[in-house]
Amino acid sequence: MTETTTTPMMPAWRRETYGPADGFRLEQIPVPVPRRGEVVLRVEATSLNAGDVRLMLGDPLLVRPIYGLTKPKHPVRGMEVVGTVVAVGPQAIGAELGERVVGELVGGGGLASHVAVPASRLVPIRPDVTAEAAACLPVAGGTAWQALDLAGIGIRSDRRSDRRSDRSPDRVPDRRSDGTPGHRSGTASAGAVRDAARVQRVLILGASGGVGTFAVQLAALRGAEVWATCGERNARLVEHLGAVRTLDHRRSPLAELPAAHFDAVIDIAGGVGLRELQNLVAPGGTVVLVTGDGGPVLGPIPRMLKAALLSIGSSRRIRPCAASPRPEILAKLLELVSEGRLTPVIEREYPFEEGAAALAHVEAGHTVGKVVVRGA
Ligand SMILES: NC(=O)c1ccc[n+]([C@@H]2O[C@H](COP(=O)([O-])OP(=O)(O)OC[C@H]3O[C@@H](n4cnc5c(N)ncnc54)[C@H](OP(=O)(O)O)[C@@H]3O)[C@@H](O)[C@H]2O)c1
Repeated sequence: MTETTTTPMMPAWRRETYGPADGFRLEQIPVPVPRRGEVVLRVEATSLNAGDVRLMLGDPLLVRPIYGLTKPKHPVRGMEVVGTVVAVGPQAIGAELGERVVGELVGGGGLASHVAVPASRLVPIRPDVTAEAAACLPVAGGTAWQALDLAGIGIRSDRRSDRRSDRSPDRVPDRRSDGTPGHRSGTASAGAVRDAARVQRVLILGASGGVGTFAVQLAALRGAEVWATCGERNARLVEHLGAVRTLDHRRSPLAELPAAHFDAVIDIAGGVGLRELQNLVAPGGTVVLVTGDGGPVLGPIPRMLKAALLSIGSSRRIRPCAASPRPEILAKLLELVSEGRLTPVIEREYPFEEGAAALAHVEAGHTVGKVVVRGA
């Protein structure tokens, strides 16, 4: 008698070729088996990013040698995932069977019922944080955090403190006992006024999307005075998140701003010349480039090279941000969400059966906060 074994199958949204969201199909594929250092998650939620759109289109061409020369190596999109560990591979240290975790995926895979992920990228989720909220954090929240670190926001500098006497003392930086940057508003004591004289002013370009909504909240939590660009329809939201002033990006607002007005500019939107951005920061300030925008072949690379050239010998540095998976940052973001100090903005949640529609939503380029797809 011959013994037959059947491979367990699972549903996944796939597109074998590079192209738009309407080419994704719901197919049955084998459930992954965890390799060394990996676990398999039963997916509870995944969230989508502008980066998913770039990878599904293979745009710019520069990404194709890494992500698949003629077709995507990862035909399933979704880079941020929340799920329960259902299988543990050899030497997968740190994640246990049955544990509920969140993490960033290698290349994609979240738009499926199961996904394999290195255990080292995962962080356990507290019961008081929803799967949908946690799924927004790894890429979007992590990028915003790393961009603010690069900009030096929340990192005190006495070097630049002397020229702040013109700043309003209405927002007073505070340090929590655990060292997490924070702020409190209200009337300041004499000592606090001295502190307020060091409030950093940051301009966030592209504040209404996934990275932007986190950047505004985190910059405010770090005690910065946040100015932001967004569409008129999103101004109220961005102000609610912590911006003291919003500028409509469709009305070329940057020309109206005085030179050297900011300690940092964080460009998540693109489309503004580097010299113009550099002129907005004060000496000692930093421009951080987060946007992946650029030409169809080399993407942001020429802009990054120009940034390096413009930074040579300048006291106003332009620094590209290439965010990487950082579980220790993810853990801090989860803590802030659990404490109610950080709220992921979710524009829309889709059921798993509408995965392609969720991708099309993000592809349209007008997402407010995040788009989340619930597990199968
Ligand atoms: N460097 C890195 O490591 C890294 C990591 C993650 C993401 N990124 C890049 O960061 C960018 C944002 O990613 P995301 O996932 O947050 O995007 P997203 O959520 O899709 O961003 C969409 C939002 O951007 C707004 N927007 C578009 N053009 C704008 C402009 N010129 N000025 C102001 N707002 C504008 C849109 O507002 P309207 O509806 O008003 O147009 C929309 O609300 C992308 O270029 C992505 O590739 C880089």
